[in-house]
Amino acid sequence: MNDHDLIKRTADFVREKFLHEGSGHDWEHIRRVWQVARALARDTPHANPLVTELGALLHDVADWKFHNGDEEAGPRASRAWLESQQAEEPVMQAVEVIIREISFKGLGVATPMSSVEGELVQDADRLDAIGAIGVARAFAYGGHKGRPLHDPAIPPMVHESFESYKQNTAPTINHFYEKLLHLRERLHTPAAREVAEKRHAFMEQFLTQFLLEWESKDVKAGPQEKP
Ligand code: ADP
Ligand code: NI
Repeated sequence: MNDHDLIKRTADFVREKFLHEGSGHDWEHIRRVWQVARALARDTPHANPLVTELGALLHDVADWKFHNGDEEAGPRASRAWLESQQAEEPVMQAVEVIIREISFKGLGVATPMSSVEGELVQDADRLDAIGAIGVARAFAYGGHKGRPLHDPAIPPMVHESFESYKQNTAPTINHFYEKLLHLRERLHTPAAREVAEKRHAFMEQFLTQFLLEWESKDVKAGPQEKP
């Protein structure tokens, strides 16, 4: 099978699988990551386009968040699909490594990518976690998990291990301080960093306004005494 057909078949497979997913890990997320990774690859010499595109399309194929914390579910599902399509071993291997390395694992945990293609896919995935889409996805995920929007009595944490990050059940606002506001500093490519500036500023503005409204500080008569 030529590269174009393999990408097309993979996109069809992933679209079909994720079309009705409502937790922020939907096909539209994957479509955006695919599109952005492809755009970043055009500016990156030596990036293998097939590995970049397959990595983007398959990066969330079986995320640990939805497989009882099983970190190998994604790499395994990716290999099973690519084997069924008779992909070449080095391509399967490269894609599997991207999926194994890509996830955010806690503020105190480094997540270096061992290939340039992996860096592009991780940048694209992280750009989709910030900005207006990032805000929407965070609350979609929080709603899916039944989390409160905010609770000032529960302060954000620095997770020093993937295990502690995985077990986290804090309100969604905490996720901004525990992950989303730090993604800008953890991008690899200059093009992604540039895009992140506006998206980051938007999130900060959102948080300022959210916390103002939380205390009704923008209401003329208020703030009222707490009941
Ligand atoms: P990653 O692999 O880096 O976690 P994903 O592509 O799997 O990224 O996307 C996870 C999405 O779910 C992101 O938009 C992220 O902000 C959101 N998310 C993950 N954990 C939480 C959480 N505890 N609260 C709110 N949103 C979350
Ligand atoms: Ni993703």
